[in-house]
Amino acid sequence: MAAKTSSSPLVLAAILLISSTATTHAFNITSLLEGFPEFSSFNGYLTQTELFRQINHRKTITVLTVDNDAIGAISGRPLDAIRRIMSNHVILDYYDQIKLEGIKRRSIIVTTMFQATGIAQQMQGFLNVSKTTDGSIYFGSAMKGATQDSKLVKYVTAQPFDISILQISSPIIAPGIDVINPDLVRPPPPPPKKSPAGSKSPAEAPVADAPVAEDPFVAPVADSPAADAPAEYSPEPVAADTVTPSSSARASLSIGVAAVMGLIMSSFAA
Ligand SMILES: *[C@@H]1O[C@H](CO)[C@@H](O)[C@H](O)[C@H]1NC(C)=O
Ligand SMILES: *[C@@H]1O[C@H](CO)[C@@H](O)[C@H](O)[C@H]1NC(C)=O
Repeated sequence: MAAKTSSSPLVLAAILLISSTATTHAFNITSLLEGFPEFSSFNGYLTQTELFRQINHRKTITVLTVDNDAIGAISGRPLDAIRRIMSNHVILDYYDQIKLEGIKRRSIIVTTMFQATGIAQQMQGFLNVSKTTDGSIYFGSAMKGATQDSKLVKYVTAQPFDISILQISSPIIAPGIDVINPDLVRPPPPPPKKSPAGSKSPAEAPVADAPVAEDPFVAPVADSPAADAPAEYSPEPVAADTVTPSSSARASLSIGVAAVMGLIMSSFAA
């Protein structure tokens, strides 16, 4: 009895699996877009990047397409970058006119095929769909600070509830998505040349030229390494350097004043 009842969900799962495989090729994105020559460049990129295969294997998706006049923002990049950008134009859910107009919230976050690649960083794989008070719908990357200026132009075609194709005004390029190797490490800052300069400046600093002599030594120390590696290059030694020549200059000055005074005194005595 127990074995019989527990087997039925398995049978159901098997039936669902079979039916889902049967409907896998319910649509053909390439031939769907072929009906619209204004999207031929976008369609060409789906073929070049082979993304059409993944799209055709999905069950419920929305493709955000741009026309041949707007595709320029994607073109001229390495195919790998184009592939990432294009995959960010495929929403892993079905959004047609009824569903988009029915959204009550000001904005929603949707998942794209780029998120499914597993290489997306932060919110790169998500889009922000927002509505203005006049009912216009905008798309943009969900990355913090990304522009939300890609406007819904028209509902191109749909096969409820499998695939919906929407035209947007401009391609969505998530910040950093076109970078081939985001893990590039910045070169380390140059080693400090502070101590020879510091020991040199007070000894060399002439009385009159003290402020001029300081600048070439102090300026590079204060600007580059301090900003790059605050832990290693603490500002204190820099401050000490600037103090040393000026205080020694002040000391030399007072010695000079004393010498002049001595001369005056001696001239009076003579
Ligand atoms: C999809 O459509 C394209 C263009 O019409 C065609 O070349 C291709 O063979 C089709 N793919 C499938 C799997 O039917
Ligand atoms: C989505 O876009 C709208 C409109 O620009 C903005 O108000 C909202 O904060 C954005 N949401 C996220 C999570 O970035």
